[in-house]
Amino acid sequence: MIQRDGAQTSLWQGNVPPYITTSRAERKTVYDVVIVGGGITGLTTGLLLQEAGKQCLIVEANDLGFGTTGGTTAHLNTLLDTPYYVIAKNFGEDNAKHVAHATAEALNLIRNNVNRFNIDCGYQEADAFLFAQDADQEKELEKIRQTSADAGLQIDYIQDIPVNVPFTKAVRAAGQAKFNPLEYIHGIAKAFEAAGGTILQQCRVINVTEDDTMKVATTAGVFSSVDVVYATHIPPGINLLHLRCAPYRSYAMAVTLEDDAYPEDLSYDMYDPYHYYRTQIVKGQPYLIIGGEDHKTGMEENTEKCFRTLEAHARKHFKIREVAYRWSSQYFEPTDGLPYIGYLPGHDDHIYVASGYGGNGMTFGTVAAQLLKCIILKENATLEKLFDPNRIKPVAGFTNFVTHNTDVVKEIFGKLFSADELRQLGDLAPGEGKLVSYHDKKVALYRDDAGKFYALNPTCTHMGCDVKWNQTERSWDCPCHGARYNYDGKVITGPADADLEALVLSSENAKVV
Ligand code: FES
Repeated sequence: MIQRDGAQTSLWQGNVPPYITTSRAERKTVYDVVIVGGGITGLTTGLLLQEAGKQCLIVEANDLGFGTTGGTTAHLNTLLDTPYYVIAKNFGEDNAKHVAHATAEALNLIRNNVNRFNIDCGYQEADAFLFAQDADQEKELEKIRQTSADAGLQIDYIQDIPVNVPFTKAVRAAGQAKFNPLEYIHGIAKAFEAAGGTILQQCRVINVTEDDTMKVATTAGVFSSVDVVYATHIPPGINLLHLRCAPYRSYAMAVTLEDDAYPEDLSYDMYDPYHYYRTQIVKGQPYLIIGGEDHKTGMEENTEKCFRTLEAHARKHFKIREVAYRWSSQYFEPTDGLPYIGYLPGHDDHIYVASGYGGNGMTFGTVAAQLLKCIILKENATLEKLFDPNRIKPVAGFTNFVTHNTDVVKEIFGKLFSADELRQLGDLAPGEGKLVSYHDKKVALYRDDAGKFYALNPTCTHMGCDVKWNQTERSWDCPCHGARYNYDGKVITGPADADLEALVLSSENAKVV
């Protein structure tokens, strides 16, 4: 099965085998562009550049789609999480039109790719239905409808919606779509390799040195290139973008229904966080995918509760036969409502980044690929300024960010804990993790299913915040900039590039049953 960045299995991951690369034998050490990250952004960028004549290498630390591309619910939207009235207010009405146009172009590219490369990924065009359930939401809905129409969307009031959820008013936006994201990116990967591109999976980037050429040191050797693209969802190291993107987690489940009332289109309520609904047929079986219960990463004590609440919501409105899959996934909210795509702040002109897609990762990942291609090829990119990661656009009142603890970078821990002491620190069930105090120091403690304890320094190796336990995905998540670590402290998601410090257990008691 494809690896993913958590313990839960997504609908896609459970049904699509890992991608087998064909390009390894032709590996070189010098490329025009090295792309770090094998999700939709990295692969689409690679394909566009390779087809434009650049020699590209895509380096993925795990399997293709390991990160959010393997956990998205894959709504393809021009009706965005950031309403067009917010985009118009922050960036101007003309730019709201540019965003609507860019997202429509991204959806065109996806459709063309599906057709051109015969990608069997359950791609289907659909409408999006947004519905209000009280008077306040109706007012908001009208603002969204009007400004979306002003930006160029075809959006109108409608009398009925595809899901059996009570509503007072609803709009329908045309020109949206859906697909199986892993099957899609595997198709893109195949096309990229057929065009001469190289993919290395299970290959982690250790560092990038900027000189006359870029030197990308990886676990598979050092590669030189003119340009480097970080398509890693958030760049590694310490960067301005870590202060401008806030990590969130969203919860999803794929269920089968008793009554076959699977909705064809995409639907959204207007709560904050909102619920989203759509159907995908996988191996002949339709699944209703329901999502929601989003929260800031590391800020929910009981992540199991998020699944239970989501399931209760689903059972209220649908006749569920079985919850077949449930999983959670991470996304990054930008401070001012638009992604950051372009030159990586504070670095050489040849390093690029794309981040802050909010809940529209499939769409903005494709927008990013189109824009990065234009910037790297020095084609006239009208969107370059709008999405510039270096833009100065502080938005007053954006208070959801957690400030990091700048004074906790260097915690000194004793290196030897007896298992008996640790057992007294936390009454942990098998499979449970907890932050506990020991001699006024915090310890990230996990007990695996066989009873073995793992003790870690909870100080995130990125910028020193304390990580929090995510019970459902069995990971240590950092609330500051979204780094995530496995139960044993190994990095699974950047921006951190070093593991959590392991605290050594006394050898004779290391395993407590
Ligand atoms: Fe930045 Fe943890 S402090 S991700």
